[in-house]
Amino acid sequence: MTEYLGKLRLGVNIDHVATVRNARGSAYPDPIRAAKLAEEAGADGITAHLREDRRHIGDADIDGLMEALTVPLNFEMAATDEMQAIALRHKPHAVCIVPEKREEVTTEGGLEVARQENRLAHFIDPLRQAGCRVSIFIAADKPQIEAAARIGAAVVELHTGAYCDFHAEGKFAERDAELDRLREMSTFTHALGLEVHAGHGLTYDTVQPVAAFPEIMELNIGHFLIGEAIFRGLTPAIAEMRRLMDEARA
Ligand code: PXP
Repeated sequence: MTEYLGKLRLGVNIDHVATVRNARGSAYPDPIRAAKLAEEAGADGITAHLREDRRHIGDADIDGLMEALTVPLNFEMAATDEMQAIALRHKPHAVCIVPEKREEVTTEGGLEVARQENRLAHFIDPLRQAGCRVSIFIAADKPQIEAAARIGAAVVELHTGAYCDFHAEGKFAERDAELDRLREMSTFTHALGLEVHAGHGLTYDTVQPVAAFPEIMELNIGHFLIGEAIFRGLTPAIAEMRRLMDEARA
């Protein structure tokens, strides 16, 4: 029997409700309404990424989420002074530091921690002092995980994008190798005393092997769920993801 460290939490990322809203510059669909519905559907947290270019979530959405949510907000942000000031103003439950490039469609890779350890240690310090649980979004790579531990992060979120891409492309040998790497690095991260999360690109087809890692405490899932909500509604889409996660750990 696998010993799990605790209940696996589901963080629902509502960025792409805002993507649809912004496509028309309208007031709907409202990401706050989606977040409240996700909460009712059993999300353990809500994740939102305030990007520098505000392509989906905007500043007013963060204000609204902070006011409306009863579950924790996981505020995803780049390591910039502007975002640090916003995070310190709101003091969300959790802050996840992600790499950000203007030209990318989504967060393409993990954060390069090892080469900017000093800067990041200073950057996250006030966030830690403010009581935010600081997470670092990185590839399943030992030197990056060790660097995340050294700068004082509480959590490492492992990037599952490559694993999911290999699955979608039918490259199953590469997918399985990436999954092995994620599993090993999940154990390694936990052994260093950090909490382990994972996310990016997860779907009904790819979630279970990751959910089954004993050290994983939280999965953050967005794009697939918001897409699936078009066909079956947000509540059933989330309920099915929750069911698959629970089944994987049963
Ligand atoms: N975790 C992090 C750190 C992310 O940047 C994202 C994407 O914003 C996700 C999880 C969710 O990824 P997806 O929308 O592909 O499920």
